[in-house]
Amino acid sequence: MKAFQLRKTSGIDALVLRNDVEQPEPGPDEVLIHVRANSLNFRDFMVAHGQYPAAIKPGVIPLSDGAGDVVAVGKKVSTTKVGDCVAGSVFPDWVSGPLTQEIFERSLGGPLDGMLAEYVVLPERAVIPYPEYLSYEEAATLPNAGVTAWHALVELGRIRAGQTVLLLGTGGVCIFALQFAKLHNATVIQTSSSDEKLEQARAMGADHLINYRHIPDWDQEVLKLTGGCGVDIVVEVGGAQTLERSLRAVRFGGVVALIGLVSGFGQIDPLPLMQRSIRLTGINTGSGDMFRAMNRAISATGLRPVIARTYEFEHATYAYHFLQSAKHFGKIVITGAK
Ligand SMILES: NC(=O)c1ccc[n+]([C@@H]2O[C@H](COP(=O)([O-])OP(=O)(O)OC[C@H]3O[C@@H](n4cnc5c(N)ncnc54)[C@H](OP(=O)(O)O)[C@@H]3O)[C@@H](O)[C@H]2O)c1
Repeated sequence: MKAFQLRKTSGIDALVLRNDVEQPEPGPDEVLIHVRANSLNFRDFMVAHGQYPAAIKPGVIPLSDGAGDVVAVGKKVSTTKVGDCVAGSVFPDWVSGPLTQEIFERSLGGPLDGMLAEYVVLPERAVIPYPEYLSYEEAATLPNAGVTAWHALVELGRIRAGQTVLLLGTGGVCIFALQFAKLHNATVIQTSSSDEKLEQARAMGADHLINYRHIPDWDQEVLKLTGGCGVDIVVEVGGAQTLERSLRAVRFGGVVALIGLVSGFGQIDPLPLMQRSIRLTGINTGSGDMFRAMNRAISATGLRPVIARTYEFEHATYAYHFLQSAKHFGKIVITGAK
């Protein structure tokens, strides 16, 4: 079968397309998926560059995210059937409850082979049916960015109507967060480096827009917009360059969901954290239960993921370069191999 492999963790150029990878066979409790679409996450970029904080399998098949059809099932598989449309769970062993070290060490497209292949075998527990009206491409955006945004706002933040959330940037996670915040009738303050992207966010319902390049003190702007009080929840994807400002932009007792480090790692001043009784919690995607809960909300509301651009399977490395350019709004998708 066709599959990409990462020869070494030295960057995008180390990704090679092979036509002779052995097609996997499902074991008794596994299913075989014909992958029809993938999506790309910043994490996949980190894996390719050796920056991901877990051991990477040599020659790994990359990407945590993919969706497709079940084409064979093992003899102990009980509920999944041939013909089901499914997506894979980023952490195959995380069905419910809290994340553990053992679960964290086994994720797709890094420690374990991932989804950028014609066929993939996953344990049945890691196979999640998605809303039927979604295309393969739309479904492929859900496992990482979708579940992470859901985890941050709904599972951790317990978002409620009338609350205000701050979303940093217009990448995959924060555009899902915009959609989920509006589903819950929350007010959204969205930041971006681009006025054009901010207008796209406005068209999707973002209430207040801040260009963080033009307004470097965006935390002060957030305080102004919230009557000096601060927001209820921050979806924090920036890391070093943004976290201190996020801590100043959240209300007393508010939640900062620490998801990403697009601006790098670094030290922060912990004083506002203590003084304002902020709950700062790290997020790692989410469990199968969270994925299913998110899918129920998506089905009930007809939500459609936002796709910035779609690349052919053979051109998957172009998708990585487009992610690196940060020109995208929402998700970058790769179609299945033909
Ligand atoms: N912990 C988890 O489970 C988890 C899951 C998914 C993602 N992540 C992490 O979360 C981060 C975002 O992921 P993603 O998939 O949404 O990435 P993405 O699609 O590449 O989006 C990143 C966006 O962040 C914005 N940004 C960059 N620098 C910024 C800064 N200094 N201040 C504010 N915003 C900035 C940019 O938005 P504009 O172009 O609008 O300026 C950029 O498009 C990454 O670090 C990723 O690894 C973590």
